[in-house]
Amino acid sequence: MSEAKKLYIKTYGCQMNVYDSERMAEALGGAGYVETKTPDDADMILLNTCHIREKAAEKVYSELGRFKGLKAEKPDLKIGVAGCVAQAEGEEIMRRQPLVDLVVGPQSYHRLPEMEAKTQEGVKALDTEFPEEDKFERLKSRPKAKRGPTAFLTVQEGCDKFCAFCVVPYTRGAEVSRPVDRILTEARDLVERGVREITLLGQNVNAYHGAGSDGSDKTLAQLIWELDKIDGLERIRFTTSHPNDMDDALIEAHGTCNKLMPYLHLPVQSGSDKILKRMNRSHTAESYLRLIERIREARPDILMSGDFIVGFPEETEEDFQATLDLVEEVRYGYAYSFKYSTRPGTPAAERPLVDEDEASERLQRLQALITRDQRAIQDEMVGREVKVLFEKPGRFEGQMVGKSEYLHAVHVDKANAAAGDLCAVRIVESGTNSLKGILA
Ligand code: 5AD
Ligand code: SF4
Repeated sequence: MSEAKKLYIKTYGCQMNVYDSERMAEALGGAGYVETKTPDDADMILLNTCHIREKAAEKVYSELGRFKGLKAEKPDLKIGVAGCVAQAEGEEIMRRQPLVDLVVGPQSYHRLPEMEAKTQEGVKALDTEFPEEDKFERLKSRPKAKRGPTAFLTVQEGCDKFCAFCVVPYTRGAEVSRPVDRILTEARDLVERGVREITLLGQNVNAYHGAGSDGSDKTLAQLIWELDKIDGLERIRFTTSHPNDMDDALIEAHGTCNKLMPYLHLPVQSGSDKILKRMNRSHTAESYLRLIERIREARPDILMSGDFIVGFPEETEEDFQATLDLVEEVRYGYAYSFKYSTRPGTPAAERPLVDEDEASERLQRLQALITRDQRAIQDEMVGREVKVLFEKPGRFEGQMVGKSEYLHAVHVDKANAAAGDLCAVRIVESGTNSLKGILA
């Protein structure tokens, strides 16, 4: 038997890309590839790229340039670009970087094995179409190998919201949801292979409306209740959500579905109504705050997470202050903040920019506030008992590391537990990025 070819995938960006990379590796597994952790011994290098902020494309080109030596040593080496930069740049990538053999957009991954075969014949392969089919259904099913206790599962892709700053509606296309039974089949399969926690993924995951087996569309809450019935699946999470798609049933599920974890990532982007309007967010700071109030009524201990953009065109100090006020009011357990970055082709791209230094300074102030809350909330866990799903051994003999319900990393010495064990843990110490606990 010929030796397996080696595939090196480098993943940038969001969790959807992490999931896509796993599925691409599996699909290419069918074409005789096994994964390797370094580009040096690879027969194929695949960059799964992100286009959400500036310089992403430039980073891809400079990364590609670094493979020049490898390709010279090994002319059979195939180099591919996948993900959102592939979608946005298309053929331009091959023009600018002749090293590239294959360019594949996020909706065409099921065509990867035939594209790879084409490259073996010395023909370059490009596919950035938006076909009307479920690419995951056409992708080779996940092999039956044992897996770690946590997994991502993409249930929805694309976005119809068109926030004025965002490329996602252009790179990932319109909102599409996968049918319920395919998701359930995939989830059961994951559970059989050792997975105990599934994070449902979608660019607008709570806008999910996939076909149910009775032919009618189901909501995310309905999907969650179906997943809740799977024995052996202990935890369900979902990300990323849009405030306008948090319906009553989903809010209620946070109070009534024991498997749904008390953590919610709900980006708001800004606390200023003027800026929210210009961002085309179609919610206000007030409506967002009231929504969180309702979510907390359903699940008082829920840990909130969010995304923010500072320095959006026309953001004044007063607008920024409104963002700080909103952060003070919500008290986020986690939050991600970014300096606005112009994305060509988006509506905001034409607008005048906020002074760069001003924007950097605002970002620092916002991050300081977020870090303060994040740290305080983590510190408040000390003395509490949480449930930890252990994922892997820690740095020291006998130490195990896992996540609490609230997604805090927790490590326990002499845990005498295996990956996949779900244990009650008393938190005894709060460190910089993790908690220390003892088995309760
Ligand atoms: N500039 C800065 N941040 C952005 N995001 C999306 N587009 C941009 C942009 N053009 C941020 C948003 C989003 C997160 C995934 O990335 O906060 O929620
Ligand atoms: Fe981008 Fe807005 Fe859609 Fe989120 S909701 S993916 S920020 S356009």
